[in-house]
Order: sequence, then structure tokens, then C-alpha cells
Amino acid sequence: MKVGIDGLAFYTSHYTLDLEILAKVRQIDPNKFYSGLGQHKMAVPPPGEDVVTMGANAALLALQNIDKSSVEMVLFATESGVDQSKAAGIYLHHLLALPTRCRVIELKQACYSATIALQLGLSFIRQHPNKKVLLVASDIARYGLNTPGESSQGCGAVAMVLSANPRILSLDLEYGIMTENVMDFWRPNYSDAALVDGKYSSKLYLTMLEKCWLQYKEQSNRSLGEFSFICYHTPVPKLVEKAHHQLFKIEEQSITEDHKFNLNLTLEYSRIIGNSYTASLYVCLASLLDLAQQNLVNSRIGFYSYGSGCVAEFFSGVIEKDYRTHLNTEFHQHLLQNRSSLSYEEYQHFYEYAYPSDGKLHEIPKYRTGQFRLAAIENHKRIYESL
Ligand code: HMG
Repeated sequence: MKVGIDGLAFYTSHYTLDLEILAKVRQIDPNKFYSGLGQHKMAVPPPGEDVVTMGANAALLALQNIDKSSVEMVLFATESGVDQSKAAGIYLHHLLALPTRCRVIELKQACYSATIALQLGLSFIRQHPNKKVLLVASDIARYGLNTPGESSQGCGAVAMVLSANPRILSLDLEYGIMTENVMDFWRPNYSDAALVDGKYSSKLYLTMLEKCWLQYKEQSNRSLGEFSFICYHTPVPKLVEKAHHQLFKIEEQSITEDHKFNLNLTLEYSRIIGNSYTASLYVCLASLLDLAQQNLVNSRIGFYSYGSGCVAEFFSGVIEKDYRTHLNTEFHQHLLQNRSSLSYEEYQHFYEYAYPSDGKLHEIPKYRTGQFRLAAIENHKRIYESL
């Protein structure tokens, strides 16, 4: 029985900061960002936009034309949780009016947790082929102002419906996996921004890719030539380009202009969204599916998932025959083309906005959002609304 992705949608903030503006304020050559990192813009969440609202906005779309009564599990992958105890997915489950006969859980392992959610969700589907799983990966990548990580921020959410006989992508059974206890990127409970050893994290990303790929290759007997495309977790596009070159080097193959063109299809959305941690790998899949002009049916796609700390995985899947009719390309492109550009001062204001913690009633100022927004906080409780 085939299992995999039956619905896919992503959502991101309606606000962006062009990295040229950041470069000017920080007195850095903008080419360092544009060409050195391959990053052009980063999505910036306004007050009222959080992982719940972004995830719910993506899921609303992914669930269109799906019988919601068959959704028996919601897996919410994030490292930007809004509560230490309550799963963010429960707010989303309510906003989307999903059935009460449903399991809801939040998963955390840096940027990797959407991938374990995918594997766990598909194991459940293999046991219960008539059911569906809603997987939501939603994150806000946040580093300190004026730190080396600042230009690699961003935000976004991807929602996927997992099912038997999926209409978009079937997952292969083979995988290569690695776990190592390393301190490359972490966020202590008392900090709302990540701490990072940037160069070390980039090195580990590449080392783990090699280890996962070699395991996967041994298990699957597949060669690099069997992959039409590879989607990578994308903290910054330049690192992905390096990773792709490294894979070809390991296999003693040379990278062609076609290979570079294909990789770029997976990176287009990330270049103007930035890092979205758990969602980032699957934003690359959306970018590829939306932008590839050629017919992708039966193409094998490789996936490299990396979550600092660290856990990494290489796995693969094959595009299904009706994939095109089940995409949300129009919504994605409309959203990306109609975002508002922030000045540096507006970006700083959004960045520094602190949600109140005194327990009083606070209404959150209104900005452009999707259908769902965080409207208020009262008695330390988050109050979401549907517009
Ligand atoms: P940095 O200090 O901003 O950049 O760090 P740099 O000084 O290394 O320069 C970057 C590149 O720009 C270099 O090229 C420069 O030569 C070039 P490279 O040597 O790499 O080929 N450059 C220029 N190019 C053109 N014109 C110029 C110019 N000047 C310099 N004028 C870094 C970059 C990504 C490390 C930083 O942004 C950072 O720390 N980001 C956060 C951590 C991160 O993204 N790590 C990536 C791997 S870890 C991961 O993926 C997990 C993560 O997503 C978290 C999770 O799992 O939850 C982060």
C-alpha cells in the first residue's frame, strides 16, 4: 500500500524585510546577503501572528476538499511553541473544527520534528488506511538583533494531509538517520531568541548529510542519478547549494547547469521567506511542485532534514500522477506577491513587540494576517479569532 502526502499548503507572514535594508542599517555590503547567503528577503511576523495562526491558515487550505471526519491525528511540529504544557495543535484543532475523536500532540527537535512527524504519521496510516493525519510544521526563526544569525530569520508554516493512496507524493520506506549530542544551535527556556554557533552548525549540517546519504544509499541501493530533485532543509540557500555540490562530490559526479536549475526550483520560495525551521524542508517541496514547468509524475525526490542538536535524516518519495490538480499554487503565489515591505524601524518594532505577561486583558494590535489571528491575551490565556 502506498502512503504519503495527499494535501499540501503553506502560509507565511504578510510582511517582509528586504535584506538590502538590513544591510544598509548594519553597514554590510548587501551582496553578502544576496549572493553570500543566497537570501533576498525574510518574512517577519507581526503581533498577532504566531505558530498557531500560521499553522491554522496553512491547514485550512490543505484540508480543502478533504473529509475532515477522517482526520484522527494532528501532529504539530514546532520549536516556537506558545506554551510549555498545552500543545499548540489543540488551538488549531479548535479553529479548524476538527473532530473531537482525534489525537493531538506537539513535537520538538529543532528543525527536524516535522520529519519524525511525517514518519510517525505514515506508520499510523499503514495501520489505519481509512484515516488521515494532519501534519502542521510552523515556526518563527528568531535570532538577536545585530547578530550573525539575524539575516537568516524568517517564518512560515506548512500543512500536509497524510493518507493511504496519496495524490501528491508517496514515501519510500528507506531512510538514513543520525543523532549526535552537539551544541550548534539551541534556545534555553529563558530566551526568546536562539543561540547559535553558526559556522559549526553549517559544518555539522554538511557532515550529517554525508552520513545520512551513505546509510540511505546502502539501504536503498539507489544512486544519485535516480533523483530528479533533492529538497534540503534550508537555513540559508547558499548552504543548500554547498550541500548539493558535496553530494555530487561524494559520488564523484560533476554537477551540471540542469542540476543547478532544478535545485533552484526548490529554493525560490525560501529565498524570499527565510528560515522557517520545521517547515523549511517542506516549503522547498511546495516551491518545486508549484514552479516546475515540466511534468514531475514518477519523479523521485530526495529529502534532507536537519535539526540542530542534532538529528538528521535522508529519505525519498515519488510524485503521484494527479499531483498538479491538488496543489495550492495560486494561493501561495498570491500571498508571496502581495506582502508588505517593512522599513527597518517597522521590522524592529515587530521584533521588539512583547506579548504582555501580567494576566490583564490585552488586545493585540491588528495587522494584516490570514483568516486566523491572535486577538487578545487575558488571564494568561491566548484568545484566537477567525476573521
Ligand atoms: P555569517 O557570519 O553571516 O556569514 O554566517 P559569513 O561571514 O560566513 O559569510 C557568508 C558567505 O558570504 C561567505 O561565503 C562569505 O565569503 C560571503 P562562504 O565562505 O560561506 O562561501 N560574503 C560575500 N559574498 C558576496 N559579497 C560580499 C560578501 N561578504 C561575505 N560582499 C550563517 C552565516 C549562516 C552561519 C549565519 O547567518 C548564522 O549563524 N545563521 C544561523 C545558523 C544557521 O543558519 N546555520 C545553518 C546550519 S544549522 C541548521 O540548519 C539548523 C537551524 O535551521 C536551526 C534548527 O535546526 O532548528 C539553524
